[in-house]
Amino acid sequence: MIALNKPLTPDLSTLTNYLTQVNDSGWYTNFGPLHELLTQRLEQYLGVKNLLLVSNGTLAIQVACKALNINSAITTPFSFVATTSSLLWQGIETAFCDIDAESYNLCPLSLDKALSQDEHYEGIVATHVYGNPCDVESLAKVADKYNKKIVYDAAHAFGVKVGGESVLNFGDASTLSFHATKVFHTIEGGAIVFKHKADYEKAKQLINFGIQVDGSLGEAGINAKLNEYQCAVGLTLLDQMESVIRHRASLFNHYRTELKSITEIKLPDWHLGANFNGAYMPIYISDIDRQESIITALKNNNIQCRRYFTPSLDVAYSQQKSFGCGNSQSIAGGIICLPLHNFMSVEDVLVVTYVIKGIL
Ligand SMILES: Cc1ncc(COP(=O)(O)O)c(C=O)c1O
Repeated sequence: MIALNKPLTPDLSTLTNYLTQVNDSGWYTNFGPLHELLTQRLEQYLGVKNLLLVSNGTLAIQVACKALNINSAITTPFSFVATTSSLLWQGIETAFCDIDAESYNLCPLSLDKALSQDEHYEGIVATHVYGNPCDVESLAKVADKYNKKIVYDAAHAFGVKVGGESVLNFGDASTLSFHATKVFHTIEGGAIVFKHKADYEKAKQLINFGIQVDGSLGEAGINAKLNEYQCAVGLTLLDQMESVIRHRASLFNHYRTELKSITEIKLPDWHLGANFNGAYMPIYISDIDRQESIITALKNNNIQCRRYFTPSLDVAYSQQKSFGCGNSQSIAGGIICLPLHNFMSVEDVLVVTYVIKGIL
């Protein structure tokens, strides 16, 4: 079988070394030594500052918005459900505006139009969907024009750069998920990268119940800390990341080369000057019968695939305001993600694309 995804497996002897250190010190959580080491190593690897580890990518969005005082936001309808559900759970007034039909990311023109109609939203929450960077330059111009804060959901964008700069350095904050299914993981986990040190400091208190550095109580917080055993997994896997991303990106490139000439398949336009991290392999097919035939043929050949992301979140959460999300609804109606993970080979990619070519 060719699986859709397979989590990275930490090398057990390296992991055991780290876990032994934790057992010897008896320091299992609350910003322990491995937490500090993983923070430093991730900041260095990703080329960022003010990185705060948290217990998952959903809380990362919630804490980022709380730290930035975002109580109302315009967001993308084309993302994993957590991009929206995290906002709703946080009691944030949420509205949707459309994506760009080519990149599948939040459309700067639609955003400008939405804000020109209703300026009261405090924040913008946009996803670098499938690891493809948003048009960060144009979104920054819109945010500046209306004086809004931007949070990027970068759950798919580990290791992605735009013009040599980490994509996590755009916006007021970027959030990451380190779920087991992601390019890099700590089983469950995540991080927030803040532009400003003061926001990082505030968030660090918020994820520890709101307890301040001097032990007094500040604004009410939550518990969103990452523990030492999970940091041990992260430190172990970080050693492999360069080769993992190189391999995933090469599989992604092979897919694109094999599929680009098939007129019935549309591939998202990638941000110019950005590298691939090979997080996902989405294809779009508008014809519903063709979609079904491909899904059935892949299944008959023991190949997993997934309609991802569907439904468009403005449809799922139709009680929230929408500024019109036609592009998102049509992309969500035709998107299929093909297998892509570190344990696949180029031959596996050729098998998957051979089955698809047999149908189209
Ligand atoms: C775009 C996006 N945002 C947020 C999340 C939530 O992350 P987590 O599962 O770590 O809570 C995920 C994935 O799981 C995701 O794909």
